[in-house]
Amino acid sequence: MSEIEVMVDDEGSALFAFHDLDYIPFGFSSTTAPYIETPIATMRAAATLMRLDLGPDTSLSKSQETAQTVVCDLGCGDGELRSITCPAATGVGIDYDAELIKTAGIESKKQAVNAQWLIYDFNADLEDIVNQLLTIYKVTHVFVGLVPKQLALQTVRSILTRLCAGGVTVCCYKYHPLYLRPARSDVLMNLVVYDHTSGREDGT
Ligand SMILES: C[S@@+](CC[C@H](N)C(=O)[O-])C[C@H]1O[C@@H](n2cnc3c(N)ncnc32)[C@H](O)[C@@H]1O
Repeated sequence: MSEIEVMVDDEGSALFAFHDLDYIPFGFSSTTAPYIETPIATMRAAATLMRLDLGPDTSLSKSQETAQTVVCDLGCGDGELRSITCPAATGVGIDYDAELIKTAGIESKKQAVNAQWLIYDFNADLEDIVNQLLTIYKVTHVFVGLVPKQLALQTVRSILTRLCAGGVTVCCYKYHPLYLRPARSDVLMNLVVYDHTSGREDGT
């Protein structure tokens, strides 16, 4: 069960889930999941900051190194990140909104994108998603666009901390986990990257 509250008006209709944000987001909100699309330019900047080696044609170069790159979007929405990372890298998109995952699957099939789409609630994290990402999907890079309330959840904190400790490069957009030390950042684009140097020495 998600710990994110759905705000309702006097008639019980869902209000915009991120009503307390200090900027006008690009996207929409459903009753089950807030959904704000990251601008494509930000996704490109995230790929650069994660050192995903974007070529001039905005697809990854096909060196042996990038052939092993597996990019995960934690809270992938309709999976738009695929347009940046594919075709050279494979992808894993995770979202608890089944409709968004369905759309992501349809679009990636149309575009012949090599990606897996998982319906999963990482707030609850009942099936140890980190273990799956590291051992089954062999994820190397993770993109995250979550709000502070979520970043502060113990489950999400553990996921991000363990991913970094496991050698994964994690890029957070807009809001940033205070418990990880930034490895590098793009201030203009509001992006911060975390890596194996970002955790505390006690691993928490
Ligand atoms: C801010 S949107 C970002 C969408 C996409 N990554 C992008 O950058 O355009 C956050 C996404 O995270 C998903 N999400 C939020 N909380 C989640 C949770 N606990 N488990 C799985 N997905 C979640 C929402 O459904 C939504 O699609």
